[in-house]
Amino acid sequence: MTKNILITGGAGFIGSHVVRLFVKKYPQYKIVNLDKLTYAGNLENLADIEGMPNYKFVKADITSAEEIFSLFKENCFDGVIHLAAESHVDRSIANPVEFIFTNIIGTVNLLNAARDCWKDNMQDKLFYHISTDEVYGSADDGSFFTESTSYDPKSPYSASKASSDHLVRAYHNTYRLPVVISNCSNNYGPYQFPEKLIPLAINNIKNNKQIPVYGKGENIRDWLYVEDHARAIDLIFHKAEPGKTYNIGGNNEWKNIDLIKKLCEIMDDRLKRPAGTSAGLITFVKDRAGHDLRYAIDSSMLQKELGWKPSLQFEEGLAKTVDWYLANDTWLSHIISGDYEKYYENQYVNR
Ligand code: NAD
Ligand code: DAU
Repeated sequence: MTKNILITGGAGFIGSHVVRLFVKKYPQYKIVNLDKLTYAGNLENLADIEGMPNYKFVKADITSAEEIFSLFKENCFDGVIHLAAESHVDRSIANPVEFIFTNIIGTVNLLNAARDCWKDNMQDKLFYHISTDEVYGSADDGSFFTESTSYDPKSPYSASKASSDHLVRAYHNTYRLPVVISNCSNNYGPYQFPEKLIPLAINNIKNNKQIPVYGKGENIRDWLYVEDHARAIDLIFHKAEPGKTYNIGGNNEWKNIDLIKKLCEIMDDRLKRPAGTSAGLITFVKDRAGHDLRYAIDSSMLQKELGWKPSLQFEEGLAKTVDWYLANDTWLSHIISGDYEKYYENQYVNR
């Protein structure tokens, strides 16, 4: 069956993996990738598929209702997979307003355009909103987030994502818009912007720079290889009942400091440096404001109902990720531009 699908944020980290999977797996679908190409969006992430006949890129800003409505007038999409967002917690602490515009207003613009386009026939249409486990707050008591855990967002980023989730559900309840939401844990893998912990540490180790670990490195995250997230999105898009929410996670909790030590071992091996060299770069720095202690996802509903499970063990995924970054020096060097250096100075040096 043919489908006309809009993927937003497809030039970013997770979005590029989702676009690649859909373009390659479904040659009968038409995939439109809408992205503003902010600092986090990079068409080099999709260089291998840009010439495919079922793929089209559109540069647009989801905060502009005009741009979004005009795109929906040209194509009344059958499905929307919405990933475009401001995604970095530290940037949300430094400048929350951008997160409110993109993550909340941008989502509402897409919901309005889909509602307008689908008003006469919502059959076989789907608005799929990609969200995060951070909306549930911090699982300090050792419990796991399930789909019915109450929302308790604690950073401007997670509050903006929680707000967008609420709006997506409100459009389902009020206008019967067919929606699904998934909330995923921390992703890692190729094409992640090096402001996030794992690629930042890989890049710093490679360049013999300090590895900044916030606080005492005791915070815990549940890590999932990005291609496993993309596979879950594919399954949910095709199989989930409208109105449902699924949690996605790796069942793979790591304290930041233990993860960094594991990464240091892999880097020493790959760079043929004496064991312990990279760990010597670990530097404990001022903690993130309001730093959530622990995220932990229970993804058993997705596993039971749709048969998904993570495919990679963490050590294997981490080694694969390191190898990818070391082999893709040109990609990395294009990103480590003036803007990145300015961000790095503000975030880590001039504090
Ligand atoms: P990213 O920052 O790498 O990519 C975001 C993309 O959105 C970029 O290509 C950017 O150019 C685009 N974008 C930003 N503002 C836009 C605007 N106004 N209009 C159009 N495009 C815009 O983010 P990511 O890590 O790939 O995350 C993608 C989605 O997944 C986000 O919604 C995020 O909240 C969610 N998520 C991320 C993770 C994670 O670990 N990275 C985990 C769970 C959920
Ligand atoms: O849980 C899902 C979320 O994971 C996504 O919704 C976000 O978009 C994504 O950015 C990610 O958020 P985190 O804040 O968990 O990821 P980050 O890579 O920024 O940080 C991971 C952990 O490492 C966190 O506890 C903070 C810490 N950290 C981070 C950086 C950048 C450091 O100790 N040092 C650093 O330099």
